[in-house]
Amino acid sequence: MCGIIARIGDDDSAVDELITGLENLEYRGYDSAGVAIKNGGGPEVFKRQGKISRLKDVLAGEVPDGGLGIGHTRWSTHGPPTDENAHPHTDCTGEVAVVHNGIIENYDELRSELASRGHEFESDTDTEVIPHLVEEELARGASPELAFRRTIRKLSGSYAVAMITERDHAVYATRRGSPLVLGVSDGEYFLASDVPAFLDFTEEVIYLDDGDVVVVRSDDYEISTLDGQTVERSVSTVEWDPEDAGKGGYDHYMLKEIHEQPTALRQTLRGRADGTTGEVHLEDFPAGSFEQVERVQFVACGTSYHAGLVGAGFLSGGGVPAQTFLASEYATSPAPVDEDTLVVGVTQSGETADTLSALRKANASGARTLAVTNVVGSTAARECDDALFIRAGPEIGVAATKTFSSQVVSLSLLAERIARDVTGSPTEESRERLAALDELPGQVQQILDYSNAQKIAKQYRDSDAYFFIGRGTVFPVALEGALKFKEISYEHAEGFAAGELKHGPLALVTPKTPIFAVFTGENDEKTLGNVKEAEARGAPIVAVASEDHEEVAQHADHVLTIPETHPDVAGVLANVQLQLLSYHAADLLGRPIDKPRNLAKSVTVE
Ligand code: F6R
Repeated sequence: MCGIIARIGDDDSAVDELITGLENLEYRGYDSAGVAIKNGGGPEVFKRQGKISRLKDVLAGEVPDGGLGIGHTRWSTHGPPTDENAHPHTDCTGEVAVVHNGIIENYDELRSELASRGHEFESDTDTEVIPHLVEEELARGASPELAFRRTIRKLSGSYAVAMITERDHAVYATRRGSPLVLGVSDGEYFLASDVPAFLDFTEEVIYLDDGDVVVVRSDDYEISTLDGQTVERSVSTVEWDPEDAGKGGYDHYMLKEIHEQPTALRQTLRGRADGTTGEVHLEDFPAGSFEQVERVQFVACGTSYHAGLVGAGFLSGGGVPAQTFLASEYATSPAPVDEDTLVVGVTQSGETADTLSALRKANASGARTLAVTNVVGSTAARECDDALFIRAGPEIGVAATKTFSSQVVSLSLLAERIARDVTGSPTEESRERLAALDELPGQVQQILDYSNAQKIAKQYRDSDAYFFIGRGTVFPVALEGALKFKEISYEHAEGFAAGELKHGPLALVTPKTPIFAVFTGENDEKTLGNVKEAEARGAPIVAVASEDHEEVAQHADHVLTIPETHPDVAGVLANVQLQLLSYHAADLLGRPIDKPRNLAKSVTVE
């Protein structure tokens, strides 16, 4: 996730404090960094792809004085991580510098219009349209503030934006759908994506609301609506241990990332699906992109493999033959691969050796390859013929959480695009699924607000083993529930297809082995039959099901409830409950949740 920092004061500390701010935002993940400093004249921009240390090397030669500046850490979403794509971005005259977090949905259109009026662009980013739009307004005689307001009115999408210009000693900023906070101190102010950025300098914070426009000068600030009506926002004092600040107040990154899922899912979906019209727009894949495809093979490992299983289910349901392979097994698979085969590597990091090796094998066999990944400049994204980015934002906890949810949603959109290209127009079923995706971020938020997973983790903390069962679209969720549970709690956990329980695993079921059974509203009768088999052996039953599922509730000792939704989407919701369960079980056992033993965030050996 990109990070913004701005500093306004009268002394010459801007560079040092901006760099401290950027370093404090490193936990959000980034692939390039930059600052723009103003000292009398126009903003001077310094930016580099890579670590902040590279930016510091550039600045070391020529540290500019000045009290006013903006800075940014970029996590690529449009265009690869390069010096040119790093923020701040400027206009044609160099008079305006801007940093931005979020996605400008109508940037293509704005960019073509600006180019037709003679503007020249230096980057591939959506952000760069902003300084050029401001430039036009300034040229028409608008003040910087008016130019900023008029420009913001032209943007659609989500953003937090901060701007400085040659014309005055002020920062102009606003937010819509992306975070922005104002730090207040004696003789200086800060703006940032997150409080830790300026916690070294002040603990006094104003949390800005969506739609707020803030103009900050060395001696004052004003907050107003986009239409110019003044609004009052109170100042709060943050009492955080700076050590924990990077976790945004959460005890672990994993918990923070579980809670980021509503935002991550909105980013994944933004501009890509319309639940009302049933339209799907995947930026690099217009209608017809997959007409040649005869079969789809997913290759992936671990959590991404489980997302791949869900993806294959979506495609098969849409009439396109699809299979999912463990990437490490793909080399020995006899499955046919030719130029009509689309091989999709699902990998949040884009660096997993087994997945890269499977993709290379597919490539060598003449297949078309596509990476579904969270990392724009990753090896998978670069080596595959195409890439679809899941836009979950950086994930720091080793256990994959928000990336799984964003992978499943991305794969459902990809499956929709492929199925329409191969088999024809959207079905009623697919429209209903898209409509359910619209509701998904809000429903995940409901679960985060009311989940009783912590209580259930406590109740079953002394069990011998933990079994997870599901059928159809939630069989992969049972596998994922068990993987997450074992990897961070170190307790024995297994996932089974519900119907398989009676073919062996039932021998392990006792009153000390709770069964977590996932229900979607489809084929529930059969799963309920499997639950009764376990119940008869004295096993405690925890159902993951919608609130009003009375029959399930009758047979369960506890229910982890999920909001009512389309059966294909229910798995994402159920999985959020299971993530919380695993987290709390591991927390009760005092495990090092963000860095579990013997695991790495990206596994680069086969
Ligand atoms: C589990 C986990 C791993 C990864 C696997 C693949 O929480 O994180 O199982 O899912 O190593 O990683 P990526 O998706 O980066 O290819």
